[in-house]
Amino acid sequence: MTEVAFVLGTRPEIIKLSPVIRSCDRHGVDHAVIHTGQHYSERLDSVFFDRLGLAEPEVNLGVGSGPHGEQTGEMLRGVERVITDVDPDIVVVQGDTNSALAGALAASKMDPEIAHVEAGLRSFDRSMPEETNRVIVDHVADHLFAPTEKSEKYLVREGVPEHRISVTGNTVVDALERIRDVARREATVLDDLGLATGGYLLMTAHRQENVDDPDRFRSLLDGAAGAGRDHGLEVVYPIHPRARGKIEEFGLDVPAPVRTVDPQDYLDFVRLLSASAAVLTDSGGVQEEACVLGVPCVTMRDNTERPETIDAGANRLSSCDPDRIRRAVTEALDTDGAWENPYGDGEAAARILRALPVSAEIDEVVR
Ligand code: UD1
Ligand code: UDP
Repeated sequence: MTEVAFVLGTRPEIIKLSPVIRSCDRHGVDHAVIHTGQHYSERLDSVFFDRLGLAEPEVNLGVGSGPHGEQTGEMLRGVERVITDVDPDIVVVQGDTNSALAGALAASKMDPEIAHVEAGLRSFDRSMPEETNRVIVDHVADHLFAPTEKSEKYLVREGVPEHRISVTGNTVVDALERIRDVARREATVLDDLGLATGGYLLMTAHRQENVDDPDRFRSLLDGAAGAGRDHGLEVVYPIHPRARGKIEEFGLDVPAPVRTVDPQDYLDFVRLLSASAAVLTDSGGVQEEACVLGVPCVTMRDNTERPETIDAGANRLSSCDPDRIRRAVTEALDTDGAWENPYGDGEAAARILRALPVSAEIDEVVR
């Protein structure tokens, strides 16, 4: 009988649920992975199962891309069907994607309890689809795993009963602990791309509000290129397919010294991030990872649901204004990486499993 069903669909969910799934494997907790198919390109999907040592998902709904309502609706229908078949005790979702929303919403009207990993993050920006998703998931969940005390506070303020919330740290630290040394030893990406440690800026940008707006995307690219020129550094941009598609659709030029490369697998990306002089991003996960790895970060957004990184001195908001991006990069390059990691000790997955009503005794940390 299946105790836990993980519903996931995108790159960051695979990465951040991998420590919990591996912990289930190790402790004999009977589980199934239900992949919605939101991400399906090999470089966003199967490379992560391979690199993180995960088995193929038991089910893939193959939903693919589409407008929000259509994509979420198809996932909802598919997850409901699979929950009926698999009959899990608990459905676990992570983060704020449409896949997480569909998993939680389907389960909320059925028998399983719902667990939300990375609960309580808030940008307070209701124009972001992710903000809608995370608020809804938090309010239907039975077990809320907040990465920090700040996220716990936000949940309590919204009236979530305290007994449902546990502060666990973020599972991204568990994932990084497992992979960072392997990446240093085995990743070949620096040689492959002809890069030297500290000799480049890393960039990621894929968020709907940035890349779906041609003016904003152009401005972001100009700012990143300007920052690269200011400091004589190349800007290496592993480009998400959404952003690549928008560059083509809008006919945007990618100004030098920005160099686009394919999306990287986790080993190579962690190596690229660790060895960069600083990172420019609009990604949630990358803000956290940079903070944990001691790499200064510039977030090309107007707000962040990761304020802990700003408070730590690891991150600064630049919006997409080119001058602000350039100033923020100069400031970032002037920091020394000696801040405290607010995201925990790498034992979040063990805390999560211990707090769930599963049959196994969770006595050791699995990486
Ligand atoms: C989704 C999440 C976002 C998360 C990101 C992680 C939502 C609302 N958004 O955004 O929060 O940060 O995943 O990367 O859930 N595409 C491919 N191959 C794929 C997947 C997508 O080419 O495997 C292209 C398609 O053109 C698609 C576009 O990317 O239309 C957007 O994909 P989608 O899953 O809708 O959103 P993401 O931008 O990936
Ligand atoms: N990532 C990766 N390869 C890349 C870019 C990102 O492995 O080329 C990883 C990164 O380390 C982080 C996660 O993908 O763990 C972030 O995913 P993304 O930025 O797509 O989503 P978000 O975190 O913004 O939801």
